[in-house]
Amino acid sequence: MSDIRESTDRENIAAAFDEELDPEAAEFTRLGFVKVIGGIMTLAYAGAIGYPVYKYLSTPVEKSAEMAAVKEVNLPNLDKLPKGSAYMFKFGVRPSLLIHHADDTWTALTAVCTHMGCTVAYNTATAGIECHCHGGRYDAKTGENISGPPPRPLKKFVVTVAAGSVTVRRA
Ligand code: FES
Repeated sequence: MSDIRESTDRENIAAAFDEELDPEAAEFTRLGFVKVIGGIMTLAYAGAIGYPVYKYLSTPVEKSAEMAAVKEVNLPNLDKLPKGSAYMFKFGVRPSLLIHHADDTWTALTAVCTHMGCTVAYNTATAGIECHCHGGRYDAKTGENISGPPPRPLKKFVVTVAAGSVTVRRA
């Protein structure tokens, strides 16, 4: 036991002596330690920043794959949607609008603005679809872009109304 303590004391004395004799070597060791810790922290930071960026960039691909997989959405009880109103739902991962027009016709459209991707909304007062990001407007029956910056119409779905549900499927 005392041999071990003596040996450790000798090593400590030797290390202190070495440090006294060569302070640069001791500094290098401390510097090396700081560099290793700095490297680990940099990697952790890069991972913390990089992973969300990777997920953000890969999301459109995953979204379009999911979107392509969905062919039809069943909306229970929406056959009772009052005339002149709309219901927002998701077709795959995309927000979409089911509209029950005042003349008892139905329309379902994607609710993603073709300008810059904002979610559009049905305006019950004007019976039109509006995008509040830059003032784009669409026809609620056809999805045609009628004013503002949107370059294309909204995608239209096929709507089937039955007792107890509404089914929306790809055109
Ligand atoms: S994103 Fe809709 S008008 Fe610009």
